Amino acid sequence: MIELGESSTSSFLDNLKVGVVIPAAGSGQRMEGKPKQFLQLAGQPVLKHVLNLFLSYSWVKDLVVALPQKQFEEQPSWLNQDSKVQWVVGGATRRDSVWSAIQALSEDLDLVIVHDGARPLTSKKTIFDCVKVASEGLGAVAGTRVVDTLKATDKNNQVLKTLDRSDVWRAQTPQVFPYDVLFGAYHKAIQNDWIAGDDSIIVERAGGQVKMVECSLLNFKITFPPDLDLAEAVLACSKS
Ligand code: C5P
Repeated sequence: MIELGESSTSSFLDNLKVGVVIPAAGSGQRMEGKPKQFLQLAGQPVLKHVLNLFLSYSWVKDLVVALPQKQFEEQPSWLNQDSKVQWVVGGATRRDSVWSAIQALSEDLDLVIVHDGARPLTSKKTIFDCVKVASEGLGAVAGTRVVDTLKATDKNNQVLKTLDRSDVWRAQTPQVFPYDVLFGAYHKAIQNDWIAGDDSIIVERAGGQVKMVECSLLNFKITFPPDLDLAEAVLACSKS
């Protein structure tokens, strides 16, 4: 079941200025070359579901989407429906796309939420829980605990050992950080060309403290073709 509500009333949010960065400039290499953020899910593009998650909040002051060059030049009309939304051209890596978007945010923000443009089933509770942790000055990363047994192998898949999975998580998004922490860490990452698959890696490397926030297993990223069918099924179930 999708978690629908926030875990408690959100009055502390009324005093916060929050920006949202959505990296959506990927090329969809694992989705048969189709950028997954523009595929249709339950009657609208995946990325539109993601925008809808954040545009309903009055405390979201600024939202920047990093787009591929083609969609930046010919923006689909559904992207153009809220004055809070700005677009930038993404870069060669997710890191570069996020950095371009961070630079386009207004500078008087308290917190920044970074959320993948291909992760449409995130619940309001997860967003709220991450924002709450970040409002205490930490980085907050949505994720799930690893439940399967973990094996380390050699190049021929020969098992070398079984790893301890306690305290091991899968890191996802949203990832929420104080604005200054995220900006400073990304600035260092770009100057020093740190390779990073997500934002928390950059903040950790820059010395920031990051906490995991447990979210639903349904917070998965549309990555492979079957993920789209699964997301359709989840949305159909949540309506019935
Ligand atoms: O490639 P991956 O699945 O990790 O992408 C996560 C998110 O980052 C996706 O929403 C994708 O569109 C975005 N991305 C980006 N710029 C890139 C690569 C990925 O904005 N160069």
